[in-house]
Amino acid sequence: MIIDILTILPNMFDNFLSESIIKRAIEKELVNINIHNIRDYSSYNHKQVDDTPYGGGSGMVLMCDPIFKAVEALRKEDTLVIMMTPQGETYSQKKAYELSIHKHIIIICGHYEGFDERILSLVDLELSIGDYVLTGGELPSMIVTDSIVRLIDGVINTESHLNDSFNDNLLDYPTYTKPRVYNGMEVPDVLLSGHHENIEKWRMEQRIKKTKEKRPDLMEG
Ligand code: ADE
Repeated sequence: MIIDILTILPNMFDNFLSESIIKRAIEKELVNINIHNIRDYSSYNHKQVDDTPYGGGSGMVLMCDPIFKAVEALRKEDTLVIMMTPQGETYSQKKAYELSIHKHIIIICGHYEGFDERILSLVDLELSIGDYVLTGGELPSMIVTDSIVRLIDGVINTESHLNDSFNDNLLDYPTYTKPRVYNGMEVPDVLLSGHHENIEKWRMEQRIKKTKEKRPDLMEG
């Protein structure tokens, strides 16, 4: 899979790409993540990428041309173009699965007070990570990328994400590690029993119980 991210703040991605699971996925060539500076596609003076809004108002608005040029340069036959914006469809684990089977994704990070509406003509999918407003689409694009990459075959154990929270509309079961007793709190006996079937049954019960307690809305859908 190839993920091309268009941003005016490319340095924000340095640590994200050079740590842990994402770093290993890149090294193993399971995913190719490229960060593109929108400024590099600007043909205006001083590599300008934003300007004041028509009609007045505060802040600067991302201009069409550098983003159109970038998308034109990167787009392939089967590319999905995503724009990170608070007005988009709310992101979910279901969407992460859908995106993880795409061969090529371009993610445009919105910034400043907004972007020229005509940029949306390039976009297949507007995504929001939740009903709150961030300073830009960079963190949201990392969240989407992270959630997709961990689902790509070979990146983590398939087993590790089969029971993920939100699969089957249920939260994940509780887990424990050593020591067996901590500050008087004990690990449930069943997990020490070595009885695989009972453990599986307990885990499923716990998923249902936890979901009913913490996120009953998931079970209603
Ligand atoms: N850009 C700013 N806020 C955002 C949000 N909540 N989701 C996606 N992109 C954003």
